[in-house]
Amino acid sequence: MKNPKDSDAWKELLLLSAEFKHDDFSLAQLFEDDDRFDSFSVSHESLLLDYSKNFVSNESFAELIQFAEHMQLPAAINALFAGEKVNGSEGRAALHTALRAPDNEGGNKEVSACLNKMESLVKAVHSGSWKGFSGAEITDVVNIGIGGSDLGPSFVCDALADFSTGKLQLHFVSNIDPAHLDNTLLNLNPATTLFLVASKSFTTLETKQNAEAAKAWLLESAPSTDSVKHHFVAITTNANAAKAFGIDEQNLFPMWDWVGGRYSLWSAIGLSIALSIGMDRFRQLLAGAHSMDRHFQSAELGRNLPVIMGLLSVWYSGFFAAQTHAVIPYSQRLQQLPAYLQQLCMESLGKGVDKNHESVNINTGEVVWGAPGTNAQHSFFQLFHQGTQFIPVDFIAFIESCGIGADAQERHEQLLANCLSQSLALMEGKSSSENSYQDIPGNRPSTTLLVDKLDPYNLGSLIALYEHKTYVQSVVWNINPFDQWGVELGKSLSSEIFAAIQDSSSAANFDQSTANLVSRIRNHPA
Ligand code: F6P
Repeated sequence: MKNPKDSDAWKELLLLSAEFKHDDFSLAQLFEDDDRFDSFSVSHESLLLDYSKNFVSNESFAELIQFAEHMQLPAAINALFAGEKVNGSEGRAALHTALRAPDNEGGNKEVSACLNKMESLVKAVHSGSWKGFSGAEITDVVNIGIGGSDLGPSFVCDALADFSTGKLQLHFVSNIDPAHLDNTLLNLNPATTLFLVASKSFTTLETKQNAEAAKAWLLESAPSTDSVKHHFVAITTNANAAKAFGIDEQNLFPMWDWVGGRYSLWSAIGLSIALSIGMDRFRQLLAGAHSMDRHFQSAELGRNLPVIMGLLSVWYSGFFAAQTHAVIPYSQRLQQLPAYLQQLCMESLGKGVDKNHESVNINTGEVVWGAPGTNAQHSFFQLFHQGTQFIPVDFIAFIESCGIGADAQERHEQLLANCLSQSLALMEGKSSSENSYQDIPGNRPSTTLLVDKLDPYNLGSLIALYEHKTYVQSVVWNINPFDQWGVELGKSLSSEIFAAIQDSSSAANFDQSTANLVSRIRNHPA
């Protein structure tokens, strides 16, 4: 695959982008075309993507599609679903889509066996037949994991809290900062707590240390090490390491090297989700994602939601120098979405070398950030409206309310009104001839995803949409979205520095700054 910048389509896009950079360009005026909304919106089931408030014309949009074709996006989509080794640097497939495919549509036997095993565990814990060391039922579940083994499950459990069976309290511990585990355990009873050690590799420092500390906490109260089997479950590809930790063979759930960590919430890494909402609803989550998979695989490029969203990001970073992309869910339940997307998008797309081992000469990746609306309106939206940065925004809203209190529907409608008013204000701005401080330039693009309601099925679909959007960007940029070599360097350096903090004789030849920081930590009175 060639460098995207060498293509005729790239050159054509560069010319077409000029239209949107003129001083007299008005995004709002594009709506003088009565068909604009119909031309630049598309639905999949209950999910509407309105991208009409973006810098696109019929011509530029058609050219973006041509560009995607030139970069062989259709073949790359087929390769993903066919299980080809799309993760070239690690020689692996990326078959997260197989985790949510029914048996007759690309699913596999190992996945269904794993789902059945998850179902048995969920039933046992919910029914109370799973007992802790004292014979008491489980009341609390603590997921110990980090990155993909934490962010997806934690985000989804929070997002679907209204669908929880209410039988269990879920907790997530990721940080090696002792405050995270210690504060979580403070109010828990070892006799009624179940730990899920979620780690694809079972070598991640944070997870191993937290799991060891949790085991020690349990064994302070439990009669013997045999109790570990009543309180610890592991999800991993590394069964031997989990067994060496003391986890009973029966309590091991598989992971596979063809599932990337940040794409793994659909596997047994999502056990915490299944324990929270029950297995039927977990399967609805999978079904929603599968439906988005089918759409991604079969819809024509110009009507394909992940393709459109991915190409818009490519357009803005390549031709408008966008460095960041904001995602604003108008839903308190989706408060963890930005953090989840940060790993999905930035660990996947933070790459400076292309698939030909050559340095990329275009902007790849983008800083993804955000916070729920309306809160964000009162913190950083000022910069959207009058700042000098170019920041495309995704607004996400649900038509139905999750609220249960008095007037919930009316308050929800206020929420929706705020969401719509922000995209309108960003587009139209407001000119003030008397006071330049009050001049709001407008012409700031945004996309709105309007979904009927927040439920497991639609959430599955929404997450899969962003997964595939990320894949589209990677294909067009010709980079591998499924590795993360950069993360490894920090990990290996931290063990050298840890040794130096513990024992000065092992201090390596650190630079002056690091050496002095280590020394100050070492010399701090205990
Ligand atoms: O941060 C790097 C990373 O490798 C992520 O990609 C992954 O999700 C996370 O660490 C946790 O890895 P594991 O599940 O192997 O503990």
